[in-house]
Amino acid sequence: MMRHLISAADLSRDDAVLILDTAEEMARVADRPIKKLPALRGRTVVNLFFEDSTRTRISFEAAEKRLSADVINFAAKGSSVSKGESLKDTAQTLEAMGVDAVVIRHGASGAPYRLATSGWIDAAVINAGDGTHQHPTQALLDAFTMRRRLVGRDAGLGQDLAGKRITIVGDVLHSRVARSNVDLLHTLGAEVTLVAPPTLVPVGVERWPCEVSYDLDGVLSKSDAVMMLRVQRERMNAAFFPTEREYSRRYGLDGERMAKMPEHAIVMHPGPMVRGMEITAEVADSDRCTVVEQVANGVSIRMAVLYLLLGGNEPAVTHTRPTGSEEK
Ligand code: NCD
Repeated sequence: MMRHLISAADLSRDDAVLILDTAEEMARVADRPIKKLPALRGRTVVNLFFEDSTRTRISFEAAEKRLSADVINFAAKGSSVSKGESLKDTAQTLEAMGVDAVVIRHGASGAPYRLATSGWIDAAVINAGDGTHQHPTQALLDAFTMRRRLVGRDAGLGQDLAGKRITIVGDVLHSRVARSNVDLLHTLGAEVTLVAPPTLVPVGVERWPCEVSYDLDGVLSKSDAVMMLRVQRERMNAAFFPTEREYSRRYGLDGERMAKMPEHAIVMHPGPMVRGMEITAEVADSDRCTVVEQVANGVSIRMAVLYLLLGGNEPAVTHTRPTGSEEK
């Protein structure tokens, strides 16, 4: 296992499957009355968030606490960063405190890479989203959710997503979630199609390991999972589409469109959802939408990543694997 997790593209198939399998073990902890393991007792993890986050921040914190780590939360707002302190000085402050891992979210693509390779700190670095670049734990929790739903919880152990057809729809241009998912899904053997207005398709997409389509209705019936993306207004400096209504009409998922998907197919969303824009309330609240499940799975994935990066050589959970059909 590597020392840092910066990009989904750095993961081999075996690394990714090991993380997914370890997350399955971690998920069993969540089913216990006391949701805690001693694995990271005495280790310190800092959550360094320079950008807003709800799900990812809470999820990392829950994962760290379930592994008994000491947790320090650092939000750039309200810290010396707003006084102009650099990433280097912030990192050196953390190093002086003896942290073992840094979970970082930053508006600048490449900030986690810089932190991991600069020599400023000795800790393991986990990218929790950098600019429009990467969000590897999101891709892992998405793959975990797909494997459970499309292959099966126990049947999925040791398996990848070979042959599964995944459609990712929306603001691909500004989406680190889309980039990470394309990389990881390709590594796991899935076939990915991106659907977006031409203005929101990145330059150079022809070199990505996926297809591109402008016709959502045409691909829905051939999808095992459809992942909707939020339009990232905060990263936009121009008008990329005429109106919100026009965007929703062409690229939004409503009940009528969802009915074109195969019966087993799921609807995914990394959150936060903008209801009425990329997804209607009817779809968001339907049984086929895994948004809440993705959040729960995120804790198991982050536990697995922290455990593996911080040197978990022994099995994470000792248990006798249930053989009955009570597992689902
Ligand atoms: C995403 C992000 O921040 O990259 N959300 C998340 O981490 N769950 C996607 C988004 O903000 O739209």
